Amino acid sequence: MAFLADSLARIKPSATIAVTDKARELKAAGRDIIALGAGEPDFDTPDNIKEAAIRAIRDGKTKYTAIDGMPELKAAVAAKFKRENGLDYKTDEITVGTGGKQVLFNALMATLNPGDEVIVPAPYWVSYPEIVALAGATPVIVATTAASGFKLTAAALAKAITPKTKWLILNSPSNPSGAAYSHAELKALTDVLLKHEQVWVLTDDMYEHIVYDGFKFATPAAVEPGLKVRTLTLNGVSKAYSMTGWRIGYAGGPSVLIKAMAKLQSQSTTNPSSISQWAALEALTGPQDFIPKNAEIFRQRRDLIMSLVNQAKGLSCTRPEGALYVFPSCEGAIGKTSAGGRRIGNDQEFVTALLEEEGVAVVQGSAFGLAPFFRISYATSNEVLEDAGTRIQRFCAGLR
Ligand SMILES: Cc1ncc(COP(=O)(O)O)c(C=O)c1O
Repeated sequence: MAFLADSLARIKPSATIAVTDKARELKAAGRDIIALGAGEPDFDTPDNIKEAAIRAIRDGKTKYTAIDGMPELKAAVAAKFKRENGLDYKTDEITVGTGGKQVLFNALMATLNPGDEVIVPAPYWVSYPEIVALAGATPVIVATTAASGFKLTAAALAKAITPKTKWLILNSPSNPSGAAYSHAELKALTDVLLKHEQVWVLTDDMYEHIVYDGFKFATPAAVEPGLKVRTLTLNGVSKAYSMTGWRIGYAGGPSVLIKAMAKLQSQSTTNPSSISQWAALEALTGPQDFIPKNAEIFRQRRDLIMSLVNQAKGLSCTRPEGALYVFPSCEGAIGKTSAGGRRIGNDQEFVTALLEEEGVAVVQGSAFGLAPFFRISYATSNEVLEDAGTRIQRFCAGLR
């Protein structure tokens, strides 16, 4: 009898974490490494949020709370959905978990059976297909193209739906491509979904507030109210409020699903940290003025890194609407040999050679289900991005 569970053999560890670990290892060995692998804002958590957490500790708010979020926080989440998305959720339609990732995990684990299919457009956030596989269901990967802005089209969606399809996972703005769906683009997808009553929509809106150039964020349940009864609208404080370490994510959805997710959470982590919940309450109800300011800083960085990458021989980069990433093609580097004598046969070999020879850590597109591309996280200073861009250009110039 094997000691480890069979289900573990179905999944891979996170490739983004693997790159970050490798970069850290090289750095510890004394190498000059620029790590552009991690996907988290480099800004500090705002002081009012930190103070709310300190107050919570001082006031003894350090005990168990309701499993899937304390009532005050659920009310604040419902108010956020109303204020920012025009969505009406009652508090029994809100769930709070230990990060957006746990909310996603709960939703998929609570609903998937072996044989069920989940449509995941590629490039995708690495956790989607892995959690689907862990649940014993089948991820149905639908590749998008740079030409379509890495967005799923209505025709491709219609083609991918079968009687076994239980969920479509949408993520806008996207990790890793930065692509965000306009209202009209979402409407084209929701029109298809209206015809397939068995398909639920899991929309991961984690990067909602990091959009540029006047882009108007839209979310499926608001675009097509008829779909709200089978939509889970997932979001969290990690990216918008620079709170990745606090581990608070939330979602709104039909109470039957929300209740099932709470049942699962009651037998795993119980409530998310009470202190983080008080901090998240302050995040959602306190000043919001820094959010567009941060987005403007990210926009400048996106423009800088895009311009640097597009000047590198053999690379090309489309303009993403949001998130913290660009997703350039490295097709022009494939089949070449680096200055250090490494053969570049695919995007994995491209990023490995770039890390070994120039000390720039990025993540191969194949980890996100689409090759030959790579993801650069630009959540770092202009100086670091300029240095990285110079190294990437030098690396590409050396390819023969
Ligand atoms: C698209 C997307 N969804 C969800 C998450 C998870 O967020 P959290 O840190 O709140 O678990 C991430 C984190 O990188 C993400 O990129």
